[in-house]
Amino acid sequence: MEKLNDDLERHKGYVFSKEFSSAEYIDTLQTFEIRDSDIFLVTYPKSGTIWAQQIITSICEKDMVDVYHNNFEKMPWLENNRLKADYSSRPDPRLFATHLTPDLMPPGLKTRKAKIIYVRRNPKDNVVSYYHWYLNWAAFKNPKNLQEFLDWWLAGNVGSASWFNHIKEWHRKRDQYNILFLTYEDMILDLKTAVTKICHFLERDLSEAEIDKIVEKSTFKNMKHDPKANYEFIPEDKLKKGQFLRKGKVGDWKNMFTVAQSESFDQIFEEQMKDVPLKFIWDIDQPLY
Ligand code: A3P
Repeated sequence: MEKLNDDLERHKGYVFSKEFSSAEYIDTLQTFEIRDSDIFLVTYPKSGTIWAQQIITSICEKDMVDVYHNNFEKMPWLENNRLKADYSSRPDPRLFATHLTPDLMPPGLKTRKAKIIYVRRNPKDNVVSYYHWYLNWAAFKNPKNLQEFLDWWLAGNVGSASWFNHIKEWHRKRDQYNILFLTYEDMILDLKTAVTKICHFLERDLSEAEIDKIVEKSTFKNMKHDPKANYEFIPEDKLKKGQFLRKGKVGDWKNMFTVAQSESFDQIFEEQMKDVPLKFIWDIDQPLY
């Protein structure tokens, strides 16, 4: 176990926030019992987690008991032991979000019955989004500037460790799981198609009108004002308001990266991803919702 700063610790190659988890708790997930009806949302942080969370919780709404106050309660983070929840007594379907890497996930997922939705985002936008997060999340040490954060991110010295490792491990082990891959950019380009894909994967038979309603509920504009989805229930002394739904764009990195930073990033990206046949969308014109 290696301590990175006051709030972060490395455990088995993964970096977790001590505010929410512990090495011991993460290890208990090796005996966490998986049900066939479980649904997991897996992301590297700042890849559109709460967006996909809004979509999945809305798709499953009809099947769920109505006792939760917000999306965080409906779909808790698997690795978060602050909640002290007893998930063994939760009615089906259980929904979980997680940033964990495959080796730390409950082995029962390999029966390939429970479902996993993995959302990835182009890494330059990921860096920019994560940089702003670091500036606004009180428990984290503030980077001096984007370059300092970029150095931490590239070295995997940030929460959830290396983006490259996360993307590559989940891709490499994909055949062991029942997994649907989506990208943040797919969701920006055509939200209805993304919602429909998730619906089919989850084997939920929703009408076109119900799908349209979920799309409407999941736009950036509407989520920003949705108290169940915008995470503004986090106290302001922990996180400045508006940070979970900050800009919601593809290509914001162009406003932040210098040409030199971008070129050096491209080189590292090429080297790291040379054996991984994944395509990323780095910039698009924003569609109007
Ligand atoms: P930005 O910081 O670039 O705006 P996560 O939920 O994994 O922490 O990711 C947060 C990122 O997803 C933020 O990116 C946030 O604005 C974006 N996001 C959340 N909901 C969104 C939505 N409905 N449409 C577009 N982007 C959204």
